[in-house]
Amino acid sequence: MDRILIRGGNRLSGRIAISGAKNSALTLLPCALLTDEPLTLRNLPRLADVDSFGHLLNQFGVSTMIEGTRPDEFGRVMTMRASRLTSSTAPYDIVRKMRASILVLGPLIGRMGEATVSLPGGCAIGNRPIDLHLKALEAMGAEIELAAGYVKATAPGGRLPGGRFTFPVVSVGATENALMAAATAKGTTVLENAAREPEIVDLCRLLIAMGASIDGVGTETLTIEGRDRLHGATYRVMPDRIEAGSYACAAAITGGALELVGAEASDMRATLVALQEAGVTITETAGSIHVAANGPLQPVSLSTAPFPGFATDMQAQFMAMLTQADGASVLTETIFENRYMHVPELARMGADIQVTGRSAVVRGQSPLIGAPVMATDLRASMSLILAGLAATGETQVSRIYHLDRGYERLEEKLQAVGADIERVGDG
Ligand code: EPZ
Repeated sequence: MDRILIRGGNRLSGRIAISGAKNSALTLLPCALLTDEPLTLRNLPRLADVDSFGHLLNQFGVSTMIEGTRPDEFGRVMTMRASRLTSSTAPYDIVRKMRASILVLGPLIGRMGEATVSLPGGCAIGNRPIDLHLKALEAMGAEIELAAGYVKATAPGGRLPGGRFTFPVVSVGATENALMAAATAKGTTVLENAAREPEIVDLCRLLIAMGASIDGVGTETLTIEGRDRLHGATYRVMPDRIEAGSYACAAAITGGALELVGAEASDMRATLVALQEAGVTITETAGSIHVAANGPLQPVSLSTAPFPGFATDMQAQFMAMLTQADGASVLTETIFENRYMHVPELARMGADIQVTGRSAVVRGQSPLIGAPVMATDLRASMSLILAGLAATGETQVSRIYHLDRGYERLEEKLQAVGADIERVGDG
C-alpha cells in the first residue's frame, strides 16, 4: 500500500488550484438517474469516490463517458446517460466501499418508482444510520421494507405523491435523497429543518437546471413541486470548501502564505472567521482567497455545527493547526460521535490533546516530531499530513487510500508550493 513521506519545516508559498467539491459531486452524479437525457458534469474532481460512483451508475445501465482533459488540468468532464435503467439494486459489495452510494435511493425511486439499496453500515467516525433518509421518503409516500441488510423502497402506483417532513436533526444526505425523490414526485413536497450546506445549494441548482421546481434554495425550508420528467443539463461542480480550508490550515501551520485559486469565500465563512481568530490574515479577491500566517498562531475555541456553522469536516485539520497555537484551544465535535481518531496519532508526534466526551483541549505550542502514523478516515489523514508539514524530521503516513477519496493529487499540489512530500509505494 502507498505511503506519503513528508520532511517538515518548509514554509509553504504559492498558488493551489482548488478542485471540484467531492461532497457535491457525490450528490450530483446520481441525478443522472432522474432523466433519460445526457447529464454532463464539469470540474469533477479526480477522486476514488467519483470513479466508484461512476461504476455504481454503470450497474443500473447508465453509460458514463469521460472527456479527455490535459494531464496538467485539474478536474474532469463526465457525461452520463440513463436512457433505460436495467436495474434498481445497489449491491452490498459496492455500497460497503462507499457509503455515499446511499444517494441513489432517492433518484431510483424518482425515476423507477422503486429502489433496493444495501444498508451502508457504519464507518470510522460513527455508525451513521440512514433512518432520516427513510423517514423523509415515507413522509413522501414511499413504502419502506428492511430485509437481509437491504432497504427496499417502493412508490405505490410507481410514483411518489410527495409530502411534508421536518428533519429532527439536520442531515445532509437525507436532505439530498429527499430532494432528488421530490423532484419528480406527483405533488408538492415541503422539507423543513433541511440542510443548508453549499453542496445542497449546488444540488438544487443542478435539479433546477434539469427542470425541477424548488423554492427556498439555501434556506432550511425547501418546497419542491414535482415534475413529470426532468431533462438533461450541463453543470459545473462547485469548488471544494473543505479542500480549500485544509490548504488554508497548511499555510497557517507552516507559517507560509497560499493563494487558494477558485475557492468561494461565502461557502466557508465560518472557517475563514476561525482562521482570522487564530491570527491568520485572510484576503478575498475575485475568484480566490489569500491565506497568510501573520506571527504566532492564537488559540481558538469552537464547536462544529451544520452550515453556516463551523464544518465538522474541518475539525481534524483545525486541531492539527492549533497544536502550534500559543495557548489552549477547546474544540467540540457535535455532529459525529467518534471523530477524534486523529488524536492518538497527533499525540505520537508530540501534540498535547486531552479528549473528554465531545470536547478536545489542545494545548500549544507543542513542537511536533516526525513519526510513522496511520490514517483512519479521510479528514484525520489530512490532519496528519498537516502535522507532518510542521514537524521536525520525517513523517510517514500509511493507509493513504483514505486521502485519495477526498484530495485530488494532494502531494503534487503541496510539492508545487514548497512542501518536501512524496508518495512511495510498497511495490
Ligand atoms: C455528509 O455526510 C458528508 N458526506 C460528510 O463528509 C459530512 O461530514 C456530513 O455530511 C456533515 O456535514 C458527503 O456529503 C458524501 P449527515 P452525511 O447525514 O450526509 C446523523 C467527509 O469527510 N444521521 O449530515 O452522512 C449522522 O449520524 C464526509 O467529506 C442520522 O442520525 O451526514 C450524523 O451524526 C464525512 N440519521 C449527523 O446526523 C440519518 O438518517 C449528520 O449526518 C442521517 C444522519
